[in-house]
Amino acid sequence: MLEARGLSKQFGGLHAVDGLSLTVDEGSIVGLIGPNGAGKTTVFNLVTGQLRPSAGEVHFKGRRITGTPPYDLVKLGLVRTFQSMVLYSESSVLENVLRGCAVRSRVGFWRGLAGSRQATREDEKVRERALELLHFVELAAARDELARNLPYGHQRALGVAIGLATEPELLMLDEPVAGMNPEETAHMARLIRRVNARGTTIVVVEHDMSFVMQLCREIVVMNYGKKIAEGPPDRIRNDPAVVAAYLGVDEDAQA
Ligand SMILES: Nc1ncnc2c1ncn2[C@@H]1O[C@H](COP(=O)(O)OP(=O)(O)OP(=O)(O)O)[C@@H](O)[C@H]1O
Ligand SMILES: [Mg+2]
Repeated sequence: MLEARGLSKQFGGLHAVDGLSLTVDEGSIVGLIGPNGAGKTTVFNLVTGQLRPSAGEVHFKGRRITGTPPYDLVKLGLVRTFQSMVLYSESSVLENVLRGCAVRSRVGFWRGLAGSRQATREDEKVRERALELLHFVELAAARDELARNLPYGHQRALGVAIGLATEPELLMLDEPVAGMNPEETAHMARLIRRVNARGTTIVVVEHDMSFVMQLCREIVVMNYGKKIAEGPPDRIRNDPAVVAAYLGVDEDAQA
């Protein structure tokens, strides 16, 4: 579904991402982990078009997408959520999801072509779909509340609902459970599994190790912009390079 080859990004002299290659199979849930500043978010930015790579290529569904702008990628089915919350905080929960739906909606098309009656019917269908999505993320009861008034965990779930509204084939989640309590975290894990079961491939960046280890069958570990390990959770957990990266062990100092 996704393949990045030799992906690099420099900021001045800093190699934020350094020759990273990554393969994501259709239907999988892949974890991307690493210490703070390892380059995880930058990988997301490079794959989803927020940043242009200094070198390397990205392929999505067999198509070269390097440098394609985010909105075009959303239309192709490649969607991400952000590490810091991006919601329309002064809009209602339902309006937030409707904005996600608008990416796929043909309302604009119909309005021009067939007049307002057709548009109204299309509007209703979109509204139904948005409500269905809110049921799916268990936020239907909060549909008329302002997004900013939702508890934090619910805002995160709303972020996922907005992403889902665009009908992604690949959904990339940047720290979906940051700041959540254990109950909210478990809820998000269930939600991600359900999304995956409905056919959406997932890449997830997260610092919560037990969350990642339970959710992902394949994990990629980064440190200083490079991939230092990849494999199933059990192998990753016991990988000396991974343990060292997380403990901040300097190999020279160790020797
Ligand atoms: N736009 C930018 N300009 C300059 N430096 C940047 C920029 N974005 C990221 N960096 C730097 O690149 C490195 C990788 O950052 P990135 O945000 O990708 O790390 P991360 O793995 O997502 O970290 P965290 O776990 O803290 O979110 C860091 O040293 C960061 O300061
Ligand atoms: Mg990050």
